[in-house]
Amino acid sequence: MEPLKGLILSGGAGTRLRPITHTSAKQLVPVANKPVLFYGIEALVEAGVTDIVIVIAPETGDEIREAVGDGSKFGARVTYVVQDAPRGLAHAVLTAEEALGHGPFIMYLGDNLLRDGVRALADRFREGESDALILLTKVPDPWHYGVAELDGERVVRLVEKPKDPPSDMALVGVYLFGPAIFEAARAIKPSWRNELEITDAIQHLIDNGARVESRTVTGWWKDTGQLADMLEANRLVLEDLERSIEGEIESARIEGRVAVAPGARIERSLVRGPAIIGPGAVITDSYIGPYTSIDRDVVVEHSEVQHSILLAGAKVLSLETRMEASLLGRNVTLKRGERRPRTISMIVGDNSEITLP
Ligand code: G1P
Repeated sequence: MEPLKGLILSGGAGTRLRPITHTSAKQLVPVANKPVLFYGIEALVEAGVTDIVIVIAPETGDEIREAVGDGSKFGARVTYVVQDAPRGLAHAVLTAEEALGHGPFIMYLGDNLLRDGVRALADRFREGESDALILLTKVPDPWHYGVAELDGERVVRLVEKPKDPPSDMALVGVYLFGPAIFEAARAIKPSWRNELEITDAIQHLIDNGARVESRTVTGWWKDTGQLADMLEANRLVLEDLERSIEGEIESARIEGRVAVAPGARIERSLVRGPAIIGPGAVITDSYIGPYTSIDRDVVVEHSEVQHSILLAGAKVLSLETRMEASLLGRNVTLKRGERRPRTISMIVGDNSEITLP
């Protein structure tokens, strides 16, 4: 088989992660202080796929290009293709056809995270003779996904977001394809949501006698499309964090698996892992609890934070209550006011959500 190329889809509006995605691509939101997209690139490289095409949207493409560059920092060669509008995953495949050289490839949705990577899957596809290999996992809410009906490991039927799901096995955002997928993507019609669905293209392969195989996920899988998933992904990634203390610690206690980057400072505080503190962050007179990711240059003073993601430059100052299950965008400031009467006063961007105690 020709060498497998990689196709990462990194477009989409990220509506379910607003307001963060008003100013940033959803694939660049950090999980344990690393953009989600980087986990995908690393997973491909680890599977021996170093020639990678990234499909970007006109709105967020520049930011993605800037973050990933030519791929050399990942040991990959990355090129970009712009998809003019979000017209579906199969449309993205067609957009990238030339860049992929019409050959076999692994497609990876840029906001997905898989604990065990894709190496075993890529190896299986390289050894086998199937036209497509898809990855499945059991989910409690199959109607939100593409769903597979199986006969053993053979896929009999696929439906996108079925009202009446034939099983609870959902398509995970990783697919392996031989060149037959390009014809299939050309053959199908847009769905009710007006997208060329990859699910329909794979169904077209099945209908035409192609060999479509499936595997189920080992480890865990997360699609980080919304806040609860993002926090869950953060928690899962931090579960595997190793302790490493490189920053300055002064009269502070650091318990368990905590990573403190060089240039971070922690004073008169308790940090209880798993938690990660980025370079330039300053934590004073505070408590940082489990499953918290604090990005570069964040300031936390006289406050308690747990199970949250704080993006670069955010400030949490003198909160009276403990903050949890929160995602603070870049340079957001959250502080307790000194004035009387004690009122709430805020400048909040579009689509923000604030829950007060
Ligand atoms: C897409 C696919 C769907 C798959 C899901 C995985 O859905 O269309 O089949 O199960 O990714 O994340 P979308 O994110 O476009 O709703």
